[in-house]
Amino acid sequence: DKDELIVPKDFPELKNDTFLRAARGEEVEHVPVWCMRQAGRYLPEFREARAGKDFFETCRSPEACCELTLQPLRRFPFDASIIFSDILVVPQAMGMDVQMCPGKGPIFPEPLKEPDDLQRLRPKVDVAAELGYVFKAITLTRHKLEGKVPLLGFTGAPWTLMSYMIEGGGSTTHSKAKRWLYRHPEASHKLLRQLTDVIVEYLLGQVKAGAQALQVFESHTGCLGPAEFKEFSLPYLRDIARRVKDKLKESGLDNVPMIVFAKDGHYGLEELSQSHYEVVGLDWTIDPRSARERTGGKVCLQGNMDPCALYATKDRISEIVKKMVEGFGTKGYIANLGHGVYPDMDPECVGAFVDAVHTHSRQLINR
Ligand code: CP3
Repeated sequence: DKDELIVPKDFPELKNDTFLRAARGEEVEHVPVWCMRQAGRYLPEFREARAGKDFFETCRSPEACCELTLQPLRRFPFDASIIFSDILVVPQAMGMDVQMCPGKGPIFPEPLKEPDDLQRLRPKVDVAAELGYVFKAITLTRHKLEGKVPLLGFTGAPWTLMSYMIEGGGSTTHSKAKRWLYRHPEASHKLLRQLTDVIVEYLLGQVKAGAQALQVFESHTGCLGPAEFKEFSLPYLRDIARRVKDKLKESGLDNVPMIVFAKDGHYGLEELSQSHYEVVGLDWTIDPRSARERTGGKVCLQGNMDPCALYATKDRISEIVKKMVEGFGTKGYIANLGHGVYPDMDPECVGAFVDAVHTHSRQLINR
């Protein structure tokens, strides 16, 4: 019955908990694997389902989000699913207009220019009212997954969202947003705090709706230096994890593993591994063995094959995966790409990646 599928209870029993065990550092039979952007334009069925429809309209349809989330799982034996949505739904909830222009990416017609523009943001965001469509999508998908694999929720991190809200779209230098950090540090902290408050409520709502793990995307870490990272990114990442975990406890809900993915933030690896996240996601610029040494085996690591390695032959992909798994080791490790799958990639190569992780890790574990 359709109405029952939007009630967040009586979910089907989880059949494959490999991802959750790895996140907690427990024994596994194989290394779990999923891919960022596993639901995406590299799949013909995704392009067909998305054709002619506005991106954010699609995000607002729980049925469409559910279908797009399930598509990659029909093809590949991934060990986790991630809800189809976008990080930019949070700035929308705060009152900003965001459009997705095909071929161009996200555009904010009226970005924040000066600190006075903060007044344009909703002072108090009703997260359930503004983002309830994401919660519905999560609940529906959790039912329709039939316990196959866990469902991840996600959010953009404060700095990454702040940079979009000021840049108004993609940027290579992020100089408009970084100008705020150097020229308007107080206004920057005010905006980052406002984002953090919304994000904490948003993540809690996702868990209440049925998300079994959460990933926080700090995609724009790479344009910050270590000092700016320590002042404008790390404290908010920490605050998010601590507050989500405290509030879950207060509400009598079970803890869920949280993943922090600070892309190109290799300088912050030690600190990220001590920031209340169970899992640290890595991009491909970090060597697996050195990441292990630097994090002292305290956290689970996730990543980090260069997505462009999916352009290689299947045999070569298998060799690259073998080295990666040997480098990270099979315990406390979740295999993934170092960033999302690109639209022009061959689905068969994604399949080869998943199979290689399973095959090589089984061999290493049974050795
Ligand atoms: O990983 C998944 O499969 C889950 C869904 C997901 C999407 N976006 C769907 C999407 C997730 C987790 C995101 C996160 C996201 N969105 C990030 C953080 C991760 C990263 O890439 O660093 C960022 C920066 C965004 C903002 C955004 N949304 C960009 C830059 C784009 C690309 C625009 C383009 O044309 O390439 C999007 C659009 C988007 N989000 C697509 C998908 C599948 C492709 C557009 C489409 O489906 O029409």
